[in-house]
Amino acid sequence: MTQSITRRQALFRSSLLLGAAAMPRTLTAALQEKQSTGLATRPDYIIRAGTNENPYGMSRVALNAIYNNLDKSSHYNFRVRQELHQVIADLNQLPKDQVTIGSGSGEILEIASLIANMDRGSVVTPDPTFQQILRYSSSMGSEIIRVPVRSDMNIDLAAMKRAIRKDTRLVYIVNPNNPIPSMVAKKELEEFVLEVSKKCMVLIDEAYYEFVDDPSYGSMIDLVREGHKNILVSRTASKIHGMAGLRIGFGFAHADHIKEIGAKGTGSLSILAITAATASYQDNEFQNYTRRKVRESKLIVEDMVQELGLNTTKSHANFVFFDTGRELRSVNQKLLEKGIKVGRPFAPFDTWSRVSMVKPEDMKYYAQTYKQLFG
Ligand SMILES: Cc1ncc(COP(=O)(O)O)c(C=O)c1O
Repeated sequence: MTQSITRRQALFRSSLLLGAAAMPRTLTAALQEKQSTGLATRPDYIIRAGTNENPYGMSRVALNAIYNNLDKSSHYNFRVRQELHQVIADLNQLPKDQVTIGSGSGEILEIASLIANMDRGSVVTPDPTFQQILRYSSSMGSEIIRVPVRSDMNIDLAAMKRAIRKDTRLVYIVNPNNPIPSMVAKKELEEFVLEVSKKCMVLIDEAYYEFVDDPSYGSMIDLVREGHKNILVSRTASKIHGMAGLRIGFGFAHADHIKEIGAKGTGSLSILAITAATASYQDNEFQNYTRRKVRESKLIVEDMVQELGLNTTKSHANFVFFDTGRELRSVNQKLLEKGIKVGRPFAPFDTWSRVSMVKPEDMKYYAQTYKQLFG
């Protein structure tokens, strides 16, 4: 007994000593470095600047909703799903039969592609853009017609119109786009959508809708509200709501399309994800906070890009795209060695880097590191 206590005490003391030796040294060094140079310090985690998530996670309100409803995990989701359905319909001033909920907006995109491409045909899309629906359509035998963006890096609507063929079943546009965070103005896009939807389904992916502050921008949900057919709009809880891992997304369309999407879906939703989304969509404070922080971080990266004289394009989303002028894989590898993960290369913009906005303090560390490595 006495011996065991002594051994434990000894272990405890040595662990304290180890801790005392290791911890204060790093902390003090980091603090001294910061005080003497004003430099940002490397955090003790990998900075996730590659996947356009919310660096703050989800809101307190959403987290509380999950904690308070953990015991509902044994229930099927029918009632809570109805509640979220109503909240989203109300927020968008649509009847419930014009709204559907998916396992992330990715599921909505894939079902839309399934419906539109049942008899193959082609899909017209800008290039580059988000790939999920294109991969899925291609796996079903559809041909993907890629229309390069204009020299100003914006989506070329005129060229897209010309690219539409008799067998085109779907036109897919992400607005703001990804990986190029460009944006098509509402009026211009509305005209395009109204015309093209007479021939085939048009899907407008508004995953980054909440980050746009340009007054000329607007959602295509207005056209859905007016009752037009062949127009589908998708949104997601993965970005500003910080729920990428929980998987909630939405589709907005004419009731006939929503019915068909409902009939073709194969999955179901987690009751906790639904509960969190219901809370989060009613919490504007967190969305405003995120928007403010994203703006702060964007300024840090834009300043860096300007200081280094690099080519870029205005960002309307929660990521920045700029030309490193270098082989991107080695740029990314060097950043990873410093604890920062950024986006993969996006052909044909092989030297351009897509950097997701993280917390401003981490963004400062990123900018400082980038300048040290490549400035
Ligand atoms: C344009 C776009 N659409 C859809 C998605 C998929 O989002 P979700 O998590 O809702 O499936 C993403 C994800 O990055 C995206 O960038």
